[in-house]
Amino acid sequence: MKEKMLALLLSKDESYLVEVLNKNFNIKSGIVKLGGLKKKKYGDKIKTHLGKEFAIVKPNIKDILEKKIKRTAQVILPKDVALILAYTGIRPDSLVVDCGTGSGYLAIFLANYLTKGKVITYESDRNFARIAKENIKISGLKNIKLKHMDVAKGIAEKNIDLLTVDIQNPAKIIKNAYSSLKAGGYLVVYSPTVEEVIAVNKFIKRKSFSEIKTVENIVREWQVERTTRPKTMGLMHTGFLTFARKME
Ligand SMILES: C[S@@+](CC[C@H](N)C(=O)[O-])C[C@H]1O[C@@H](n2cnc3c(N)ncnc32)[C@H](O)[C@@H]1O
Repeated sequence: MKEKMLALLLSKDESYLVEVLNKNFNIKSGIVKLGGLKKKKYGDKIKTHLGKEFAIVKPNIKDILEKKIKRTAQVILPKDVALILAYTGIRPDSLVVDCGTGSGYLAIFLANYLTKGKVITYESDRNFARIAKENIKISGLKNIKLKHMDVAKGIAEKNIDLLTVDIQNPAKIIKNAYSSLKAGGYLVVYSPTVEEVIAVNKFIKRKSFSEIKTVENIVREWQVERTTRPKTMGLMHTGFLTFARKME
């Protein structure tokens, strides 16, 4: 493996995302000499100085998002991204406009599926835009364009297949966004509170949208050990997703 390449070290009970560098990596099961990865390839194994073995695998986008990128604002988590992909049926060649980049988590996740398409993402905050740009670079994806702009001032793109909105008071954006969407294209608004859901729905219902629905995706992880039951601790509320499909 080459210097600075990323590797996921996997054991039955631990996993780490590391860079190939000449330095030691301290973990609870010992020290891994990361320089030793230069003589390895994905699929090989490496041991800590205490003899614990780790498989070396190529990280995927979820590993990079979970373990490598810097988070600024609250991100849209994989369980909610999954619904956006499934309920809008976006295709590999789709054009997505993402309003409110934040850390770029959603933009990066979606771009990973758009092998022939692209994501344009708008962020008004200078510092967040800078960090998101670094995160996009880390992701290695080339099909994301970040615009450091207030999206309320207008969306330049036309014929958008999917418009995602994750900012406070999204009504202003939805108003502009309508004309930018393709007929049959989707608007998806992520709202953390019921009050925001009500406001968004009120606004959407005034426009020529079909298939309007608001959902909450609750994922409950189970413990399967000596006894089997739902885990007592876990992620509770994230946000609501409102979907709407432009008619004409
Ligand atoms: C909750 S975060 C978005 C998180 C993002 N969906 C993710 O998964 O990483 C909201 C972001 O929207 C940005 N924002 C708020 N109003 C905006 C506007 N009018 N134009 C562009 N960005 C805006 C904020 O600065 C913030 O970074």
